[in-house]
Amino acid sequence: MSRKTVKVAVTGAAGQIGYSLLPRLASGEIFGMDTKISLHFLEITPALPMLEGVVMEMNDSAFPLLENIIVTDDPNIAFDGVNWAMLVGSKPRGKGMLRGDLIRENGPIFTGQGAALQRGASDLRVIVVGNPANTNALIAMNNAPDVPSGRFAALTHLDQNRAYSQIAGKAGVTVNDIRKITIWGNHSATQYPDVSHALINGKPIFDVIDDHEWLRGDFITTVQKRGAAIIQARGKSSAASAANAALNHIQAMESVTPGDNWFSSGVCSDGSYGIDEGLMFSLPIRSDGKGSWSVVQGLEIDAFSQEKINATLEELRNEKAMVAELLA
Ligand SMILES: NC(=O)c1ccc[n+]([C@@H]2O[C@H](COP(=O)([O-])OP(=O)(O)OC[C@H]3O[C@@H](n4cnc5c(N)ncnc54)[C@H](O)[C@@H]3O)[C@@H](O)[C@H]2O)c1
Repeated sequence: MSRKTVKVAVTGAAGQIGYSLLPRLASGEIFGMDTKISLHFLEITPALPMLEGVVMEMNDSAFPLLENIIVTDDPNIAFDGVNWAMLVGSKPRGKGMLRGDLIRENGPIFTGQGAALQRGASDLRVIVVGNPANTNALIAMNNAPDVPSGRFAALTHLDQNRAYSQIAGKAGVTVNDIRKITIWGNHSATQYPDVSHALINGKPIFDVIDDHEWLRGDFITTVQKRGAAIIQARGKSSAASAANAALNHIQAMESVTPGDNWFSSGVCSDGSYGIDEGLMFSLPIRSDGKGSWSVVQGLEIDAFSQEKINATLEELRNEKAMVAELLA
């Protein structure tokens, strides 16, 4: 898609993902070296002074394509006329906080932001990064009735990247040699990284990797628990890889999906594969590069995969029930 200037809103811009994300957005790497960029930063009021420091650094980088930066604590200003909204900001999970508490704490942020997103450009796209990403995206989508539901997504590209990287390491190949891995369901520990249809250099993965026990066991749990492993090692949640994946998502949505491959994203289910219609569920999709995507149809789901898909589906149904009153 070519535009003269692309307007991108980033919420939670003073946070650690923002710090990795913003310079790459402004560099031209994502929208092309012939597209200028206008950045709209949304933060909560107490974080605005810190955000000023980030803005100083962005200005000091003298990005040739960066037209302007708008800084605000008002979603109506932040989302005005934007082509892309990256919803990164959310309240972090505190010590001892249950996932249910996190869902209830963050939900209200996405009702207000959903309504304000209706001020976006006619080609507005939304990627929700802030956790719980699927359910936050569901809330935003339901509070923005003027924006087509297909424009909303929850980030599972990080899970996909993690899966590709694990397989590449095991097979001794690069990620470019691999195709057709799917992330099903929630961006949480119930997600199902599915290699049933994956190919390595065109060959079925189960013919290339002999350790089938690993493929059906440790591989899956490693991807599911990667976020926790990073927190354990780094003392902070993933930021550079999360920012990278959010940018990969934009690139994937803005271009034609190559060959017969696919990528995964939390999207509004159309009922394919028996997933409740309207649920924000990670599915294998292909993009036409013109703003539309479709779910890859006809993949065979064996009993092993079905059980795993059912588990993550159940979790997302429960999350939806928890925020029922926020779904306008
Ligand atoms: N989907 C994924 O793959 C993935 C991966 C990693 C992290 N995450 C999630 O991304 C989110 C951000 O992570 P981070 O490491 O940058 O966190 P962070 O705490 O460093 O930054 C979050 C920022 O959001 C801001 N914020 C909070 N409420 C806001 C609101 N209502 N409007 C605008 N801004 C608001 C905070 O002030 C803060 O600056 C977290 O929810 C994290 O769990 C998702």
